[in-house]
Amino acid sequence: MKKILVTGGAGYIGTHTCIELIEAGYKIVVVDNLCNASLEGLKRVRRIVGVDIPFYQVDVRDKVGLTKVFEVHNFDGVIHFAGLKAVGESVEMPIKYYDTNVGGTFILAEVMRDFDCKTFVFSSSATVYGNPKMVPIREDFPLSATNPYGRSKLMIEEFLQDVFVADDAWNIALLRYFNPIGAHKSGLIGENPNGVPNNLIPYISQVAVGKLDKLNVFGGDYDTADGTGVRDYIHVVDLAKGHVKALQALDEPQVLIVNLGTGNGYSVLDMVKAFEKSSGKMVAYKIVDRRAGDIATCYADVSFAKTKLGWQAERELDEMCEDTWRWQSQNPDGFLNETFA
Ligand code: NAD
Ligand code: UD1
Repeated sequence: MKKILVTGGAGYIGTHTCIELIEAGYKIVVVDNLCNASLEGLKRVRRIVGVDIPFYQVDVRDKVGLTKVFEVHNFDGVIHFAGLKAVGESVEMPIKYYDTNVGGTFILAEVMRDFDCKTFVFSSSATVYGNPKMVPIREDFPLSATNPYGRSKLMIEEFLQDVFVADDAWNIALLRYFNPIGAHKSGLIGENPNGVPNNLIPYISQVAVGKLDKLNVFGGDYDTADGTGVRDYIHVVDLAKGHVKALQALDEPQVLIVNLGTGNGYSVLDMVKAFEKSSGKMVAYKIVDRRAGDIATCYADVSFAKTKLGWQAERELDEMCEDTWRWQSQNPDGFLNETFA
């Protein structure tokens, strides 16, 4: 049975991926510094899968701490989710973002090399395509970044490609996620943003549950069917399954670059309607100015994921909204209420 280290495994995508890995027969170990997660999420994962998950509260920038984890466990590979992801905050605090995202990946790769563990799955983002000239977006489109968060992802992608050029024993997957939403069917785990959410679906769900008054729709004058921004929303469980497929595809040295999306684009107003239908709640909204840095339309060409990984997203928009709503309505305060020992 293969053993995988999951950094950032206590977070939103990490917890869902832990479940899929265990269900696919992997042993896992989680490292997380809990700066944007709580142990409650992992406790709930344990309840869902019925398996204990070794956990280390270690920062990926802490070489000594990481080394100790590698001394205890013999890993076949690493899935690296640990990092910071708020675009606005990255503009305010670039040093913190580069240090955590880029610096953390340097340290992790160093420790992996020291222990001859060279299978590396990295959480990249569709943000590396900048403002694409066309959609759907293919993996070979030009790359650019407009903020420190996006640049940190680009730098890490380039760094990992350099690592492979220098030593082609590495097996690296750069997974470019589109917009993950949704939650596990159990309603026990889901996205748990700190403070007022920046992203659309957490914001809509907090309006629906009554925590926020109304949604500000950023821009009604884009060149899209209804004037609002279009994105490729993907169910987090499909995304998690994509990680298992990527690990399985890393059977020989390579750098594998794959979009993980659905290939479908939905507007902000489509999402409001879909969420109202799933939740049975009204989502009040107001169209306001565009958000700086936003693009009109972004959705993936998913053909490479299909042929290379044998993976495609299976969950439709209604299911994404229903599962988000189950999580949100059953846990209006996120993981604040510790329900499981
Ligand atoms: P998240 O914040 O829920 O998970 C990240 C986890 O990493 C958290 O549990 C946090 O505590 C941990 N962490 C942060 N810094 C750390 C450090 N220095 N050492 C150890 N642990 C640390 O975010 P998520 O949505 O699950 O995202 C996971 C990864 O996917 C991130 O790298 C993110 O940039 C990337 N990504 C996310 C999205 C998205 O929309 N959620 C889109 C594209 C890419
Ligand atoms: C944002 C980030 C991107 C990151 C991604 C996933 C920005 C500029 N981009 O992408 O780098 O990879 O999250 O974490 O922050 N919207 C509203 N009102 C809101 C929130 C969002 O109208 O309160 C609109 C946006 O204008 C956009 C759509 O909803 O059209 C989706 O927004 P969001 O969920 O923030 O994701 P992205 O902008 O795609």
